[in-house]
Amino acid sequence: MKNIVVLISGNGSNLQAIIDACENKKISGTIRAVFSNRADAFGLERAREANIPAHTLLASQFASREAFDRELMQEIDAYAPDVVVLAGFMRILSADFVAHYAGRLLNIHPSLLPKYPGLHTHRQVLENGDEVHGTSVHFVTDELDGGPVILQAQVPVFAGDSEEDVTARVQTQEHAIYPLVVGWFLDGRLVMQDNSAWLDGVRLPAQGYAAD
Ligand code: GRF
Repeated sequence: MKNIVVLISGNGSNLQAIIDACENKKISGTIRAVFSNRADAFGLERAREANIPAHTLLASQFASREAFDRELMQEIDAYAPDVVVLAGFMRILSADFVAHYAGRLLNIHPSLLPKYPGLHTHRQVLENGDEVHGTSVHFVTDELDGGPVILQAQVPVFAGDSEEDVTARVQTQEHAIYPLVVGWFLDGRLVMQDNSAWLDGVRLPAQGYAAD
C-alpha cells in the first residue's frame, strides 16, 4: 500500500475528501499521518476521527524556517511517504524542503493558475468582476503556486455572489479533483519531468489535463 502524508493548517475539508476516497478505495493508498502548523486546526480532529496520527509543529518553537522544515522533514520521513499532499497548508516551504520532496509534493490552490497566485484569490475574483473562477492541483516547485498544473476545475461566478458563495463553489470542486489527482499519482500515472506534469506518458498543457 502506498503511503500518503497530508499537511494542513485549517478546516481540512480537502483532507476529509482524501480520507473518504481512501476509505472508498478510490485511492490505492493510506494516509499515514497528518501534520499541522496550527494546534487548533479542525483537520487534526478529522484525522483523529479516522485513526490517523495527527501531529502539530509550531513555528514559534523553532529558530528559523529552515530549522522548522528540517524537523518537519524528519517527522514526515518516518512515515516513508510516496506522496506529500499540501491541503491548505498556509506556510511557505524552504527550498530544501521542496527539493527533498520534488516530484512527489502536491498542492491545491484556489484559482485558475497562473491567475492569482498567493492569498485572497476569491476576493480578487469578485473585485475584478471575473465570470469564471476555479481551482488548480499542481506539483510544487520553488516558485510560489507556480509548479506545473495537473488538473483544474472551473466554476461560474454569478452577480451578487459573496466571497463565501464563491469559496463554497470552489471547494466542492476541490473535493472532487484533489482525490482524483492523488489517485493518479499513486497509481503511477502521473509524474513531474522537465518542469511539466505528464499523465500516462503525455505531457500536459499549461492548464493541466483537459478532457475534449
Ligand atoms: C482550499 O481552498 C485550498 O485551495 C487552499 O486552502 C483551502 C483549504 O481548505 N489551499 P480546507 O482546509 O481543505 O478545508
